[in-house]
Amino acid sequence: MVTKNPDPGSDSDNHSYANTKQIHTKHLHLELDVNFENRTVYGIARHQMVNNGTDTAIFDIKALDIQKVTTGSIGKEKETDFVIGAWDKDSILGQPLMVKIDAKTTFINIYYKTTEETEAIDWLSPELTTGKEQPFMYTQGEAILTRSWIPLQDTPSNRLTYSASVKVPQGLLPLMSAENPTELNTESVYEFKMDQPIPSYLIAIAVGNLSYKKLGKNCGVYSEPELISSCAYEFGDLPKMISAAEDLYGKYQWQQYDVIVLPYSFPFGGMENPRLTFVNPTVLAGDRSLVSLVAHELAHSWSGNLVTNRSWDDFWLNEGFTVYFENRIMEALYGKEIADILARIEFQELQDELIDLSKSDHPEDTRLKLKLQGRNPDDGMTDIAYVKGAFFLKTLERDLGRERFDGFLKSYFRTFAFKTVNSELFLNYLKKNLLEPNGSNFNAEEWIYKEGIPSNCYAVTSPRLDKMKLLAKRFMKGENIFEQVSYVKIKGKKKKKKKVTRLQRNDFITQEWQAFIRELPETISPELMKKLDAYLNFRNWGNSEVMSEWYVLGIHSGYTELRPYMKKFLNKVGRRKFLLPIYSALMEKEDDKAWAREVFNEAKEHYHFVSKSSIEALFRNT
Ligand code: BES
Ligand code: ZN
Repeated sequence: MVTKNPDPGSDSDNHSYANTKQIHTKHLHLELDVNFENRTVYGIARHQMVNNGTDTAIFDIKALDIQKVTTGSIGKEKETDFVIGAWDKDSILGQPLMVKIDAKTTFINIYYKTTEETEAIDWLSPELTTGKEQPFMYTQGEAILTRSWIPLQDTPSNRLTYSASVKVPQGLLPLMSAENPTELNTESVYEFKMDQPIPSYLIAIAVGNLSYKKLGKNCGVYSEPELISSCAYEFGDLPKMISAAEDLYGKYQWQQYDVIVLPYSFPFGGMENPRLTFVNPTVLAGDRSLVSLVAHELAHSWSGNLVTNRSWDDFWLNEGFTVYFENRIMEALYGKEIADILARIEFQELQDELIDLSKSDHPEDTRLKLKLQGRNPDDGMTDIAYVKGAFFLKTLERDLGRERFDGFLKSYFRTFAFKTVNSELFLNYLKKNLLEPNGSNFNAEEWIYKEGIPSNCYAVTSPRLDKMKLLAKRFMKGENIFEQVSYVKIKGKKKKKKKVTRLQRNDFITQEWQAFIRELPETISPELMKKLDAYLNFRNWGNSEVMSEWYVLGIHSGYTELRPYMKKFLNKVGRRKFLLPIYSALMEKEDDKAWAREVFNEAKEHYHFVSKSSIEALFRNT
């Protein structure tokens, strides 16, 4: 049956059909059967609701097969009528599922299965894992994909607790954003519970051949057995990060903090699923040089998971706070010099983003507070939310003083713990508790509601990065930067000894090399690129951040010898942040277009929907 869809946004969230003001889920119990043969999750979603006397409950679904809906608790269930709203293939939101209830109904049970179109789930055949023997699956919920694997009120404005009973094939371990097992059991049915209320985008599951290594009293890492020792090394500082975070903004509220390293197809670097951060193996640089990503996801345990953006228009409240907090954790562990290097790198990305957005269809997206109605909330995932947001807070810290600002943030997290916030609530709280008491006329409104970067923005400098820029400039001028000749005096002798120091990759950290590469002009000749590769081997360096930037520069400069390396990378890594710049650089060049499509057609099988659909959109638009 087809009816006109209701207007989304009944509870100030334009990206959900749910009528949460009338009725909302308080607790969700999931009964799941994860079937790898059919690549299907068979589920029952048992919603325990708070009903303010309505006769219809509206849930969000997308590409789900709804079999029946009942009301009443287990044992007393009665089938009820439901209507699924009109289906539009391009629909971002999916469909409303409208269930007939009565004013007293509090239990609604939805029997369903996922379909081939389910966007949240990535099903991986064994070849796409490290071990190559067992299959793997995981979900990605943020922003609005949870509705494609669970029928629910998919809005961050509502918090719910959840529990689950999950059946998986023998030998595979399921993990959720909940209390987790560390070992297989014989029944292959696992029970989960998340007793603290969370927004729906944080419900997540991963199933695979997984082992666990404890890293501290309340933290550890899961990965395929082959990777576990490198993971344990890479994330060895995790216990210190947790204490540093707690020292800053109050006790960690989720008891356990574990990380799971997923297969390479995971479309993000990291995702802050509570109690179990999901990360992409590209973070395993072997030298801990990319661990700020874990600091970031850990920071979300406060900003995002404890205090949550009420709608996707306020995404900066999740990410901007988190980038700021991440940098504070990095400073606490590794010192101000390193923290400034990281912030400087991010600031440069923000400047590039500002240029891109000013040329785009939505120049107004340089505001922190967004208006994403009718658009994909993914559009808000720019460096505005992340870096402009963080620099807003850095500027506040500079003007009000660190001690006062830290006190303010601590009380903000305490006041809004397990609640949701929007920009207006934050602004009010900021004025009342920080600006007014200190007689400050800080331009907070300008930061939140105006386009661009206000002129009082905190300026971060890094002498070490400046040095790398200089090194790149010298190289471009034709200087031999690879060998440095100096003369050392030898005791008792008249003649000085000639000493040659060779430039090595390990002389500098990842971010310094990024600054070096970014300083090279797009017009650099392929010969010079080749020369750098001969000395430094960027093209095959195991460091994904460096490799991806190197490839983009290589495309611009016409250094086609990179193709085999690039192809290998594109066939292995599914992280959107790396894929998009590479594919879009390729699409800008007539000579590379066909090759880009060819590589994508081969590689797309092992990209998650999130990455695949973004690249397809890029292809459509070029
Ligand atoms: N929560 C985000 C990932 C996300 C945002 C997924 C919006 C879907 C929609 C996560 O915390 C994140 O920001 N990850 C970044 C890493 C971070 C260090 C900037 C990433 O994946 O690159
Ligand atoms: Zn984040």
